[in-house]
Amino acid sequence: MGWIPCSGISDSKKKKKKKHPDHNQIRPSSAGSQKSTSGSSSTGREVPQSGGSDHNHIAAQTFSFRDLATATRNFRADCLLGEGGFGRVYKGCLENNKVVAIKQLDRNGLQGNREFLVEVLMLSLLHHPNLVNLIGYCADGDQRLLVYEYMPLGSLEDHLHDISLGQKQLDWNTRMKIAAGAAKGLEYLHDRASPPVIYRDLKCSNILLDEGYHPKLSDFGLAKLGPVGDNTHVSTRVMGTYGYCAPEYAMTGQLTLKSDVYSFGVVLLEIISGRKAIDNSKSAGEQNLVAWARPLFRDRKKFMQIADPTLQGQYPTRGLYQALAIAAMCVQEQPNLRPVIADVVTALSYLASQKYETDQAAHKAQLAPCTPPRAKRDGNNKKLNGVGHGSDRERTKKLS
Ligand SMILES: Nc1ncnc2c1ncn2[C@@H]1O[C@H](COP(=O)(O)OP(=O)(O)OP(=O)(O)O)[C@@H](O)[C@H]1O
Ligand SMILES: [Mg+2]
Repeated sequence: MGWIPCSGISDSKKKKKKKHPDHNQIRPSSAGSQKSTSGSSSTGREVPQSGGSDHNHIAAQTFSFRDLATATRNFRADCLLGEGGFGRVYKGCLENNKVVAIKQLDRNGLQGNREFLVEVLMLSLLHHPNLVNLIGYCADGDQRLLVYEYMPLGSLEDHLHDISLGQKQLDWNTRMKIAAGAAKGLEYLHDRASPPVIYRDLKCSNILLDEGYHPKLSDFGLAKLGPVGDNTHVSTRVMGTYGYCAPEYAMTGQLTLKSDVYSFGVVLLEIISGRKAIDNSKSAGEQNLVAWARPLFRDRKKFMQIADPTLQGQYPTRGLYQALAIAAMCVQEQPNLRPVIADVVTALSYLASQKYETDQAAHKAQLAPCTPPRAKRDGNNKKLNGVGHGSDRERTKKLS
């Protein structure tokens, strides 16, 4: 049995251990009832079929509570990675030396159990490079634990909002890579799973980062099977997180794929602006990110004001406009005006493929002994100035 290098947890992680559960979480109101116009239920009889190729495989492994206590050295405090609304997450090492993340659900009765079941069911059936992998679970007595692949770079939230002293800020290219990857995960749920899966809990803390900032969506406990047949929505209790919840869903409980697109738009705005979806420490007009950004969307000249100041202007102007245009479309009040996620993937994949060279990198290149021929240098300058992407506008237009 190999022990995990708990001592190797960075200072930033140590700081995060104190993190408290998210109080912006929307829990079901007692008045709500769970009904579905489509007839599917979250623990239901219909199960999503993966749209991928090798996915008729495996149920998750089962573990005993003892296995997981051993893996986390009895849930030692220095193995704690973080804590969310459903419980604590520990870093652990299985007998085969595989490093994992183990989520121990609070023993808070039925609701936690439902989410546990949905998570196991969904993640056993759905597999995609941009979804976190569930290795197994434990349902010993009243203990409920989930065992995931370990994501070494933590969550997007850790890199956008919970930055520790000396931690590197995400650069523009990495931000676009994360946005495009997260959109691909959502596209898989919406367009390739059958019936479609509405994720319902898209937010920065649920986008986990693998080596190289490869993003994976996590936490499927709130996911719902989407509408089937002629139905356009499923009716359900309003759950999710304030600031990310689409307005029509918050008001009526009618959930559609476009509710996820709205949440995605909020995440994209956070990625671009570095601001939180809800930030109570800001002045009244700036607490809600979407409400603050909406008037700025109307005036292109104000787009720069939305960009994260910590980027220090190191982004392509055209790329910023396009990313903001996508975010603005996703957070439209009218769900039918929001784009489908496949179009968002097309637009963001294009933006992610256009690597921005920072001033510093460009400067270094110019000082390098092997100065490239003039024509090539001009090409680089073009990229820096954001010129020469003739097809950009076309791509973005496709969304509208
Ligand atoms: N597979 C994983 N690998 C590495 N770290 C993880 C993993 N899963 C979760 N974490 C860490 O644990 C923290 C808590 O995760 P958790 O999903 O419980 O809560 P949350 O996402 O912050 O809130 P919520 O309960 O609303 O989803 C995350 O922010 C992340 O830093
Ligand atoms: Mg989470």
